[in-house]
Amino acid sequence: MVSIPERIHLLELDVVDSTNRLARELGVNGAKPWTIVHALEQTAGRGRKKNDWLSPRGNLFLSAILKPINGPKRWSELSFVISLAVADTVAVVTNRSIIGLKWPNDVLVNNKKISGILLETGSNAKKESYLVVGVGLNIAHSPKGTRYGATSINELILQKSSVKTILPILIRAMVNWYDIWENSGFLEIRKQWLKRAHGLGKRIEIVGMAPKTQEGIYTGLSKDGRLVLKKDNGEIELVSAGTVTFV
Ligand code: BTN
Repeated sequence: MVSIPERIHLLELDVVDSTNRLARELGVNGAKPWTIVHALEQTAGRGRKKNDWLSPRGNLFLSAILKPINGPKRWSELSFVISLAVADTVAVVTNRSIIGLKWPNDVLVNNKKISGILLETGSNAKKESYLVVGVGLNIAHSPKGTRYGATSINELILQKSSVKTILPILIRAMVNWYDIWENSGFLEIRKQWLKRAHGLGKRIEIVGMAPKTQEGIYTGLSKDGRLVLKKDNGEIELVSAGTVTFV
C-alpha cells in the first residue's frame, strides 16, 4: 500500500453533500494547507458551470485546500497541475499510457471522461486567500446520461481496483506535480500537459465565452494556460474560459 505524504491532513468521511463545499468552509475557518477532505459518497457533488457531479459510492471524491506561494493570479494553472496528477494515477492503475487531457481540466480515456476537476477560491477571517481543488475520479461507476461519454477505471482493467487503493496514489501524484509546479514553474507543467493534450490540431468550437461561440483550429496552450485558437480569418485568439467541442 502506498503511504500518504506527511504534509497531508486527511479528513475521511462516509457521506457529505460536497467535499468542495466542506473544504471551503474549513478554509474559511483557517484549515492548514494540504488539508484533504475525502468522502465515500457525495449527495450534492458539484461540477463546473453549476452542473451536478454524480457521486455514487465506489468512485473517488476529494478536495484539497491549498495556499500556493505563487500568487492567486497563477492559481488557475493548478487545473493543469492536478490533471497531470490524475493522468499519472490513471496510467499507473490501468497500465496504459494513452490518457488524454482535454482543456482546461478533463481527463479522458478512449475519448470518454474519467475525471473532472473543480477549482474554487475563498478567503478566511484574516483575508488570506486559499484555493480548493476538487477531484472526482470514476473508479467503479461511469455515470450514464451525462452530456459527455463517461468511463471508469474498472471498465479498463480486469482485476477491479478500489478507492482505498487509488486514494494514496492520487494524493502522492498531486503532491509530486504540485512540487514540480512550485519548483520548476508553469512552463514545465505546460510541456508535460501538451504531451497528453487531447485534440491538438483539430477543429473545435468553444461555447460559453464572450461575446459568442468561436470556431477554429486548436493549435496549443499559451504560456499562461489559455487555449490558442486559430480562427478561419487567420487571427489567433487566446481563450481563457469555455467548453470545447470537437466539430
Ligand atoms: C467537472 O465538472 O468536470 C468537475 C467535477 C468535479 C467533481 C469533484 S468530486 C469532489 C469535489 N467535490 C465536489 O462537489 N466537486 C468536486
